[in-house]
Amino acid sequence: MRNSAARWSLTLCLTLSLLAPGAATAQEPPAQTQPSLPHLAKRGRATQLIVDGKPWLILGGETNNTVSSDLSAMETIWPRLKRMHLNTVLVAVAWDWVEPEEGKFDFRLVDELLAGARKNDLRVVLLWFGSWKNSVSSFVPAWVKADQKRFPRVRIKGGRAVEILSPFSDANREADQRAYVALMRHVRQADAGRNTVIMMQMQNEVGVLGDSRDRSEPAEVAFRQPVPQELMAYLRDNRERLYPDLRRLWESAGAKIEGSWTDVFGDSPSTDEIFMAWHYARYMDAMSKAGKDVHPLPVFTNTWIVQPEDERPGDYPSGGPEPLVIDVWRAGAPAIDFNAPDIYLPEFALWLERFDRPNNPLFVPEARGDATGAANAFYAIGRHASMGYSPFGIDSMSRLLPRPEQSTTPAAVATTAPLAPTLSSSPSAAAAAAAVDVESLPLPRAYAVLEQLAPLILEHQASGRITGASLGRDKTQEQLRLGDYLINVSVRRNRLNPSQAAPLGYGLFIQTGPDEYFVAGNDIQVTFTPAGDEQAIAGLARVEAGTFKDGKWTPSRILSGDDVLLDYKLAGAAEKRQSGSGLRFDSSGPRIQRVTLYKYR
Ligand code: DGJ
Repeated sequence: MRNSAARWSLTLCLTLSLLAPGAATAQEPPAQTQPSLPHLAKRGRATQLIVDGKPWLILGGETNNTVSSDLSAMETIWPRLKRMHLNTVLVAVAWDWVEPEEGKFDFRLVDELLAGARKNDLRVVLLWFGSWKNSVSSFVPAWVKADQKRFPRVRIKGGRAVEILSPFSDANREADQRAYVALMRHVRQADAGRNTVIMMQMQNEVGVLGDSRDRSEPAEVAFRQPVPQELMAYLRDNRERLYPDLRRLWESAGAKIEGSWTDVFGDSPSTDEIFMAWHYARYMDAMSKAGKDVHPLPVFTNTWIVQPEDERPGDYPSGGPEPLVIDVWRAGAPAIDFNAPDIYLPEFALWLERFDRPNNPLFVPEARGDATGAANAFYAIGRHASMGYSPFGIDSMSRLLPRPEQSTTPAAVATTAPLAPTLSSSPSAAAAAAAVDVESLPLPRAYAVLEQLAPLILEHQASGRITGASLGRDKTQEQLRLGDYLINVSVRRNRLNPSQAAPLGYGLFIQTGPDEYFVAGNDIQVTFTPAGDEQAIAGLARVEAGTFKDGKWTPSRILSGDDVLLDYKLAGAAEKRQSGSGLRFDSSGPRIQRVTLYKYR
């Protein structure tokens, strides 16, 4: 019944979309014959996004939710993003925008978005705002919203319905899937041989808000069923590798491999969260699979991570791919390539760690875009081989300007532009945006350097000879091991008064030879210590400042003297196995240096 209904609907949708403006034509080539579609590939230690046959580092940004429905705003935004050294823009395509009337698809908006991106030499990731956006079903078409009987809602304790489509409804999923498949069919045809669209985000920050689980009748029936065998088998086969909190929960309930949800996971709100995670995963897996059958682009989800004030699932979207349930998602949604975190919290490193799992490669689709965002980008890409970085609200100046405590950079703080409101389409925002020298902001400056380094970064993400650091007031220094040296990285300090330190600093370290490193940094100082040789001290054989031009290192200056002297107290430095010299990066960067080291005793 379900299958034949789906087939019938698909035929209807195909027929209608052939009639609709911007619709796919009958000449579309089969997906398999298209030249090398964007895909994920394991290269050495990293899983990378391959675009046009080559690894692609996403220097990205996500526009505010509805900006992509406003093509005149986009016209001014695209070139600005290009000047900010982005190579990829994450833009929303909402169900309501492409199927305002049931079965009548209009993809002219998508065509215009692709044209705008191409004109500015940018790629896009499309965010499918279908059934859910930040848990709520606000971007579904009005004909879905208004027909609660056909498209049932989540019910929370007490029986009240909330404005969230229930993931337990086949009708909800089938209607959303029809629209998503029509979009993918359109992208296949409109983007054939171009690869402007490089990835898809399925829904946005899903999960139930207001309760720990859906309590509608079908949900209650499902909750009384045994835990599905596929999930049980995954837990059993991956027991050692499970996310520790999930493993603990399962084991403390007896590590059973069959039984009801409460038998297997105990009776707590976390069990509700696991149950919801499974059902959201199955719904979105079916949609992703159907989309891939038409146009197999990589698909990911994004997560509204638990906030410090949240006490229980439902305060944050229950069932979304949180670390606790990430294994449930990996088991329940094999057609989804990875589950990504949206990290606005200050504990960026901690959250990356939680999402960086062996079967879950990293990408950060939403985060901060100010000076901390620049540091985040370096850290994610260097330390966790992230596919890239993408701050949210990239069209809003207010999200990009450094806060006063973040930067000592004259260029960045001297802007006279007022803080722009979030709606980048308003005239005052456009004027403010035009007044800012966007290239002088921290994130574009960081992207300009990452852009130069991208081939080297991608090569060394695969070899594992890369790392990154992000320092601030909570952590002013760190020691990292890379190759045969320990790298001592600290926020930049005043040479005469070391207690005066920069508020934030970050760096990326790439080992290109036994004694050679490229370091890109901002507001940091760096020394080296030979690893595994208790007597040796690392000296600077040669330090060059420079840039990569067309992938070729082009030194501009040979650094020595004041450029590298960190500490004249040589006796104290020698005690610490230091020469007193090291790399210094001021706040006008990030900048790139190449260092060759030697050892003395
Ligand atoms: C996270 C959501 O995923 C975005 O769409 C947006 O609503 C931001 N929060 C706002 O900060």
